[in-house]
Order: sequence, then C-alpha cells, then structure tokens
Amino acid sequence: MLRLFALASLLLITLSQSNVRASPCLSFDVDFNLYAFGFNGKDWNAGTQDVWATATNATDITTAGRPPFDGENTTCYLAQYFNAIYVLNGDAKNPSSVYIYDAGSKSWSKQATTPGSFDYSSFDTILDHDTNVFYALSKGAMYSLNMDTLKVARSGAIPWNLVQKPDLLQNYNPVMALAQNHIHFLNVGNDGPGKARIFVIHYSYLQPEVQSYTGEKVFPAAYGQATSFFKQSGVQEEFAFIPDDFSGTYVINVENNSTRTLPPPRVKDTKSSYVAGITSLVQLDSIGAVSFLPYVPGDSSANANATWTSIKGLPVVALYKSGSSTSNNPHVNGTGVPGNTDTSHSSSGGVLRSAAISSAMTRAARTPQTAMGYTSS
Ligand SMILES: *[C@@H]1O[C@H](CO)[C@@H](O)[C@H](O)[C@H]1NC(C)=O
Ligand SMILES: *[C@@H]1O[C@H](CO)[C@@H](O)[C@H](O)[C@H]1NC(C)=O
Ligand SMILES: *[C@@H]1O[C@H](CO)[C@@H](O)[C@H](O)[C@H]1NC(C)=O
Ligand SMILES: *[C@@H]1O[C@H](CO)[C@@H](O)[C@H](O)[C@H]1NC(C)=O
Ligand SMILES: *[C@@H]1O[C@H](CO)[C@@H](O)[C@H](O)[C@H]1NC(C)=O
Ligand SMILES: *[C@@H]1O[C@H](CO)[C@@H](O)[C@H](O)[C@H]1NC(C)=O
Repeated sequence: MLRLFALASLLLITLSQSNVRASPCLSFDVDFNLYAFGFNGKDWNAGTQDVWATATNATDITTAGRPPFDGENTTCYLAQYFNAIYVLNGDAKNPSSVYIYDAGSKSWSKQATTPGSFDYSSFDTILDHDTNVFYALSKGAMYSLNMDTLKVARSGAIPWNLVQKPDLLQNYNPVMALAQNHIHFLNVGNDGPGKARIFVIHYSYLQPEVQSYTGEKVFPAAYGQATSFFKQSGVQEEFAFIPDDFSGTYVINVENNSTRTLPPPRVKDTKSSYVAGITSLVQLDSIGAVSFLPYVPGDSSANANATWTSIKGLPVVALYKSGSSTSNNPHVNGTGVPGNTDTSHSSSGGVLRSAAISSAMTRAARTPQTAMGYTSS
C-alpha cells in the first residue's frame, strides 16, 4: 500500500508539474533496442522487439546531460553507422542545440548549431544514411546539417546550409521519407495517389518526373507520416507511409516501385509519430501510448495479417495540458479505437491525470514489482 501511495504521489507530482506539453520521442540503437525518451522526465530502453509485447521491465537509462524534452515537436534519429541518436527540438530553452545520445557509451552531449535562415519551429527532415547529413525542408527551402561522424558533440557550432529551393509547391506541407539516398516527397500538389517526387541527395537534384508506385492498393494522395525501415546494414530501401485517412499502413519499396498494404494503426491519431526498425513499425500517439506492428520484409501474407500490439514496460505519459480539448484524445473517442474500448486511457482532458493515476495504480496493484510498468492488457 505504501508503494501505491508513493506511486500515486509521484504521478501526481509528475502530472501536475506543468502545463507544458511534454514532448517524448522514440528511436532505436544499432541493435534495435527501442528507446523512449522524455517519458515523464525519464528515458527508457524497452529492449528488442521480441520482448515488447510481454516485458514490463523497460530499463531506466535517464542520465546527466540529457535534453529536458520540454519543447514541442521533438524528433529523434538514429545514425546507424555511429550508434548515435540525434535529438532535434529537445530543449525549449536551447532550440538550436542538437543533443547527441551515444548509445554505445550511454552518454549525452549537446551540439551547437547555427540555424541561419533555417527555422527550427517549422520543418520536416530526414537523416541521410550514408552521408549522415540532415536534409530538411523548411518553408519551401531545403537545408542541410552535416553531422559528419559525430557521436559526441564537437566544440563550435555546425551550420545549417541552404541547399536550394526545390520546385515543390509554395505552401507544401512536407511528407518526406528516405530510401536509397533519395528523399521521397509524397502528397505534392495534384500528383494524385501512388506518386512521389524524388530528390537525389548526392546530386542535390529534384527529378522533374513524377515517380509512380504499383500495388494492389496504391497509397492515397493525403497528408500523413512517413518513416524508413532500416536494414541490418546499408541504405534503407523501404519506407512506411501512414496517411491521415488511416486507410492502411503503406510500405513503399523503391527497388521495384511497389506498395504493400498493412493494417492501419489501431489508434487513429493524426498527431502520432512513428519510427521503424528492420522488422517493426512503432507508433507513439499523442497521449504517449506506444504500440508496434511487426513487419516481415518481403512476406506479404504475414504482413497482411499483422496486428498492432501495445508495447508494455513503458510508463504512462501525460502529454495533455490541463483542460485541453478531449477531441484531441484518440482514446477518448471510441472512433479512435475501432472494435476495442481501450479503457486504459479513458479520460478527458484535465481528468486524464486522475484517470492515469488510477489506471496506473490498478496496474501497480496487479503487478507490484513493476510499479511504473505499463502492464495493461
Ligand atoms: C526484461 O527482462 C527479461 C527477462 O529477464 C530480459 O530478457 C530483458 O532483457 C529485460 N529487458 C530490459 C529492457 O531490460
Ligand atoms: C510545432 O509544430 C507546429 C506545426 O508545424 C508549429 O505550428 C509550431 O510552431 C511548432 N512549435 C515549435 C515550438 O516549434
Ligand atoms: C522504378 O521506376 C523508375 C522510374 O520510372 C525506373 O527507372 C525503374 O526502372 C523502376 N524500377 C523497376 C524495378 O521497375
Ligand atoms: C518488390 O520487392 C519486395 C522486396 O524484395 C518484394 O517483397 C515484392 O514482392 C516486390 N514487388 C514486386 C511487385 O515485384
Ligand atoms: C491470414 O489471414 C487469412 C484470413 O484470415 C488466413 O486465411 C491466412 O491463412 C492468414 N495467413 C497467415 C500467414 O497467417
Ligand atoms: C469523435 O469522432 C467523431 C468522428 O471523427 C467526431 O465527429 C466527434 O466529434 C469526435 N468526438 C470527440 C469527443 O472527439
């Protein structure tokens, strides 16, 4: 009982601390351990895919030098050659700092950058696999930031450079994905379903042709989220696209210009972010619940039947401001969770706090050894 009180007060403190929207993010290391950064002020290693569905024991890896994860729009990227994770927008007070987590030595450092005309409050980016350079589209212009071989910050700032203004629409809201050293821009203008524009990184060249992808079902012309599947080594060849219409999870293969359709996320939350490993696609929704879809490269029958499953072991995160509108909360609205009443997050806006506490307490009561564990079924 003491433990429950301790837990409840810990959660109360954590949840009532701020009207600031916490901004967690997910990434992998080179062994494809899943990292959850900024979950109620802590960082976690949830282990590899084989344990996600069952293990309740994510490891707390919170350590000195981390970003506070108090900004908005925080994003994280794995530099596969260096086993380093780069965090953008992780520190509201230092918006132009890129934090580097060296997953090998489990330590943080803070890299200064000089943004120039690059706008940290409005961009979308990919980290190029082979050059380890960020390419970002911000207000219609392409910028680059060369992370070189960095596992640890160097002294002095590194600059964001203006690359060019690619011939995309003025007000284009980027959906960008990396594969085969090319940036694929989806949902450009009136290109229509199943189409992308391709920017060839190594030649700094936007192909004038519109690229088409085949498939039993082509992906829609819609805004959404995209993320690349890693390979054990070498460049990514496939990326996932999760359109805001949630008509499916589309996996686009750029080697043969094909599309495969997998089930859409169970939680239909357009504010979700996604990361992909080699054999998994992971969703972080806007109330901080994490789930994954297993992916078998090259196997269509297994993929068609794949199911999204909650990742246990990560703590409940409270991302909502007190009194914020319930319409943002995918778990509140039954329509967000088809055929499944996910009571573990039933709550509304400000009430989320007590609901989160009581559901965490229920969980703790069920499995007292993992008080902070997320053990709902
Ligand atoms: C959780 O425990 C299992 C079994 O002891 C272990 O195999 C796994 O590595 C642990 N996971 C983490 C993230 O520590
Ligand atoms: C976060 O992203 C939204 C949408 O692009 C933008 O309106 C907002 O200004 C961003 N916030 C910050 C602090 O960068
Ligand atoms: C994919 O499309 C590009 C451009 O249309 C074409 O050059 C390439 O041959 C296609 N690849 C395959 C395997 O069809
Ligand atoms: C494209 O390549 C992928 C990966 O090798 C394969 O699974 C898929 O069947 C191929 N699609 C077509 C249409 O050839
Ligand atoms: C996928 O589901 C279909 C229909 O439920 C079933 O016929 C098929 O055997 C399943 N395939 C695999 C690989 O499980
Ligand atoms: C639930 O979703 C429906 C359909 O998208 C929408 O019309 C309704 O306003 C939502 N209700 C809440 C409470 O968000």
